[in-house]
Amino acid sequence: MHIRSFGLLGLAAVLALSSAVWLAPRALGASDSPSISKSTKASIDRGRYLAKIGGCNDCHTAGYAPTGGKVPEAQWLLGDQLGFRGPWGTSYPTNLRLYMQKMSEDDWVKVARSFEPRPPMPWFNVRAMSERDQRAIYRYVRSLGPAGSPAPDALPPNVEPKTPVIAWPAPPK
Ligand code: HEC
Repeated sequence: MHIRSFGLLGLAAVLALSSAVWLAPRALGASDSPSISKSTKASIDRGRYLAKIGGCNDCHTAGYAPTGGKVPEAQWLLGDQLGFRGPWGTSYPTNLRLYMQKMSEDDWVKVARSFEPRPPMPWFNVRAMSERDQRAIYRYVRSLGPAGSPAPDALPPNVEPKTPVIAWPAPPK
C-alpha cells in the first residue's frame, strides 16, 4: 500500500516535471509575441484616440455629437443615415468598418494621401496626418471589425433626399 501510493505520487511528480519542461519553451517562445502585440495594441489605442479627437466619430458614428459622445464603442464608425446637403448634393458619412475591410493597410495609406471625397468630409485633415497616424486609424477601425450596413449613396444636387439632412449653405464667393 505504501509502495503503491508512493508510486502514484512518483508518477504525479514525473507528470508535473514533464509538463513543466514542455511548458517552459512555449512560455519562452511566447515572450516575443507580447512585444509585437504590445506595439500593435499601442497603434490601435492611438487610432481610437485619433477617431475621438480627430472628429471621425462626430460624423461617422450616428448620435455621437448630439449625445456628447455617449455611444458604446461597439457602435462607432458605422456611418450615418443623416445626410449633409449642400451645393455638392447630399453626402452620407461612410460606414468605415465596412470600408476599411475592403482594402489593405497599404492601400488605405495611398487613399488617405490622395482622396478628395465630397464635403463636409475633412479629407485635408486625414491627408495631413503622419503615415503612422493614418495606419493607426486603419488598425483601430479593423480592430472594431466589420458591422452595420453601408451608408446611403450620395445624391446629386437636383435629387431630393429621403433621409433627414443637415443643410450646408454655399460657401461665400
Ligand atoms: C463633418 C463630418 C465628417 C467628419 C468630421 C469626418 N468625416 Fe469622413 N466622411 C464624411 C462624409 C459625409 C463622407 C462621404 C463623402 C462622399 O460621399 O464623398 C465621408 C467619407 C469618408 C471616407 C470614405 C472616402 C471615400 O473616398 O469614399 C473615409 C475613409 C472617411 N470619411 C474617413 C474619415 C476619418 C478617418 C475621419 C476622422 C479623421 C473623418 N472621416 C471625419 C463626413 C465626415
